[in-house]
Amino acid sequence: MRSCFVIIALVWCVLFLGCNVEAQLKVGFYKKSCPQVEQIVAKVIAQKMPSNPELAARLIRLFFHDCFVRGCDASLLIDSTASNTAEKDSPPNLTVAGYEVIDEIKAAVEAACPGIVSCADIVALAARDSVSFPFNKPLWEVPTGRRDGTISLASEARTNIPAPSFTYSRLVSSFASKSLSVQDLVVLSGAHTIGIAHCNSFSTRLFNFTGQNNVNDFDPSLDLTYLRSLQQICQNLANNVTSVPMDPTTSTTFDSHYYSNLKLHKGLFTSDAALLTDSRASNLVDKLVDEGNFLDAFKNSIKRMGAIEVLMGTDGEIRKNCRVINS
Ligand code: HEM
Ligand SMILES: *[C@@H]1O[C@H](CO)[C@@H](O)[C@H](O)[C@H]1NC(C)=O
Ligand SMILES: *[C@@H]1O[C@H](CO)[C@@H](O)[C@H](O)[C@H]1NC(C)=O
Ligand SMILES: *[C@@H]1O[C@H](CO)[C@@H](O)[C@H](O)[C@H]1NC(C)=O
Repeated sequence: MRSCFVIIALVWCVLFLGCNVEAQLKVGFYKKSCPQVEQIVAKVIAQKMPSNPELAARLIRLFFHDCFVRGCDASLLIDSTASNTAEKDSPPNLTVAGYEVIDEIKAAVEAACPGIVSCADIVALAARDSVSFPFNKPLWEVPTGRRDGTISLASEARTNIPAPSFTYSRLVSSFASKSLSVQDLVVLSGAHTIGIAHCNSFSTRLFNFTGQNNVNDFDPSLDLTYLRSLQQICQNLANNVTSVPMDPTTSTTFDSHYYSNLKLHKGLFTSDAALLTDSRASNLVDKLVDEGNFLDAFKNSIKRMGAIEVLMGTDGEIRKNCRVINS
């Protein structure tokens, strides 16, 4: 009976093209409506990158946080109002630089094609272009066609963004809840090859691993030399001001050092070190130490991340200002 229905539906589709094929993101979605959009985004990023090499880390993390809360719908960009505390004002929040550059890109895009390009697509393109900038070529393709959401709640950021204290099983379930696999988890964590982290994101591992709050109460899985240097830099458990590069050697280079560091027990967060606690994940880590493997795998996983719960077609809106819902 069921297969009969499927066949009838298929025949109907073929004959009348009336089937509601699930809308899909596609590369070049704006080819007719705003052909210059990708150039505009790349141009603003190219202007900013030389004096802000940290921008790539800001923007790829912004993309991740956007996608993990209500899908990639630019809800993270919405400012809080008198009656609503938005995602960006919840504790796992981000440095400001990224938001300002998105505003600048949006203004340039609106000047060329008003009301056409979503903020969510701009975030996806800006993340790709900033990470790719040092390579002089795009590292991955960005399917577009996302639309912007109209809801942004701080409470949802807290519950959807994985914490640096997460164990392997909590990471796997966090990613699975976004339809991402163990492979995606291990590959996307490789983004921690760029950028910085504040001491309080990992200081429990340095000073209070079992609740003793002293310099000898550290996570024994950390490389001892690395641990001592982190303790030196962070000084105490409460320090929320000092930051350290997550890849101690090349923190602005998008390379595979995240994985070689991990294997040397120099992963910064519990959530990084956790990838060595499962045999499947640690086998992937071994493969991703190879730069070519990492960049190839990243192309696929970032595409999957960029498709999380996207709004398409007539859902959502094309926000005029990325910080405010259209009225
Ligand atoms: C697997 C779960 C993840 C956890 C628990 C996690 C956690 C964190 C934390 C706590 C920070 C430091 C924040 C601070 O102290 O200032 C951070 C930074 C960062 N994360 Fe993740 N993250 C995860 C996955 C990802 C993914 C999937 C991406 C991107 C694809 C990403 C990209 C980044 C980048 C680039 C930074 C540095 C930001 C900067 O320098 O401004 N992370 N992450
Ligand atoms: C981060 O969140 C805090 C409140 O938790 C807020 O005071 C601060 O302005 C936010 N920072 C950014 C960059 O949005
Ligand atoms: C240290 O860890 C213990 C046990 O997890 C916790 O109860 C305590 O609040 C922590 N100390 C500080 C200063 O955060
Ligand atoms: C850092 O900690 C101090 C003291 O506990 C607190 O007043 C301040 O708001 C914190 N700053 C951030 C950025 O979390």
